[in-house]
Amino acid sequence: MKVDVVLGLQWGDEGKGKVVDVLTPDYQVIARFQGGPNAGHSLHFADKVHVLRSIPSGIFRDNAINIIGNGVVLDPVMFSQEIAELEKLGVDVTAKIRIAKKAHLILPTHRMLDAASEAAKGKAKIGSTLKGIGPTYMDKTGRNGLRVGDILSPSFMERYERLKQKHTAMLAQFDFAYDIAEYEAQWFEGIETLRRFTIIEGEHEVNRLLGNGQAILAEGAQGSLLDIDYGTYPFVTSSNTVCAGACIGLGVAPNKIGEVFGIFKAYCTRVGSGPFPTELFDQTGQDLQRIGHEFGAVTGRERRCGWLDMVALKYSTMINGVTQLIMMKSDVLNTFPTIKVAVAYEIGGKRVTEFPYETNEEITPVYKEFEGWNCDINSVRRYEDFPRQFKEYVEFIEKETGVPVKIISVGPDREETIVR
Ligand code: GDP
Ligand code: IMO
Ligand code: MG
Repeated sequence: MKVDVVLGLQWGDEGKGKVVDVLTPDYQVIARFQGGPNAGHSLHFADKVHVLRSIPSGIFRDNAINIIGNGVVLDPVMFSQEIAELEKLGVDVTAKIRIAKKAHLILPTHRMLDAASEAAKGKAKIGSTLKGIGPTYMDKTGRNGLRVGDILSPSFMERYERLKQKHTAMLAQFDFAYDIAEYEAQWFEGIETLRRFTIIEGEHEVNRLLGNGQAILAEGAQGSLLDIDYGTYPFVTSSNTVCAGACIGLGVAPNKIGEVFGIFKAYCTRVGSGPFPTELFDQTGQDLQRIGHEFGAVTGRERRCGWLDMVALKYSTMINGVTQLIMMKSDVLNTFPTIKVAVAYEIGGKRVTEFPYETNEEITPVYKEFEGWNCDINSVRRYEDFPRQFKEYVEFIEKETGVPVKIISVGPDREETIVR
């Protein structure tokens, strides 16, 4: 068996939660491999919305094992809150969730460092979700971090205090007032919650499950353009969100990766700061935001909106080795008479078709225009039944990327999905 990977090809919020939930019946195991509570994955079913942050989106399906892999950073407070909400709904979380020992812990002081660092950046701020993601990954690569497995060690408290002291000294360098007493108390309660769960040697478990013929789906968080190496640096998150991150974050070899499902919205959004070549500042941008309900699932912030960017989509498809494309939120474009797609950039008078190193400078997108379909496609369930204009849009994307669009989403509900 191989590990199939679902990941976002843009700046996050492509609809990964919905897709994982739709695909889960075909898998026995769903595994998160990077990121943490900066993610917000929404699932709509039975007229309800559920938002997951650190817990994989297979949690609502019977019999699926949900693994939090070693590449994830976990905040015991936010994890406990998610657990409490799921338990209220009657989900048997302890039976369904397993947590890798090597996943790193987000400390209360990591959150403070995130906030202090963002405040100090002023106008240059990243627009972080302020969940402590960056400082936790810094301690991981700096070899100072605390891991889930450490909570089983008799010296856990001593190591916690040592790291906290290091952070306190760092925080003193900033002009930043903070009080972590209450959050710290909740954090230690959260550590007790973590102890209720099966803590695993993640890489051994995942490979054993594969060896036993179990189908595994790796669920990405954020999106490829937020990747620490390949995204629009420095306006990125601090982990490898691309497909290779699944190997690192779960302990599976590259030759064990099977299908790579690349998810994109039929247009583009971005939350937080940073370059966004096709961003729209006009009425069309506002319409996309209103019709698409483009507000952050975690922070409630407005998402910036713009047209689909083929330069960026081709780049993400290449970096990830996408084998199947999944187009989301197609219904949001129902009422636009003309739909545009950026097919190249103009930078300093030159036409560029490769996603450039510097996306901060003046970029003018070169657009190709498509005729809108001007009708409601939400109730379509077979590809043949889509209007001609819609099929032209999809087939253009397939031609440009060289990858088939296998799933099309026409609404937030599980049922509003077309599998070709
Ligand atoms: P994720 O972070 O990639 O899981 O995406 P989010 O959950 O943050 O944001 C996607 C939003 O779009 C959620 O509110 C979904 O319920 C919603 N959504 C997903 N697919 C569709 C779709 O095809 N049409 C519409 N209108 N909304 C969708
Ligand atoms: P999902 O999984 C959209 C963005 C933040 C900020 C930058 C860095 O729901 O798609 P961080 O908190 O990681 O230090 O923030 O990355 N960001 C996301 N944007 N969706 C996400 O996750 C995101 N996670 C982080 O807005 O610009
Ligand atoms: Mg999201």
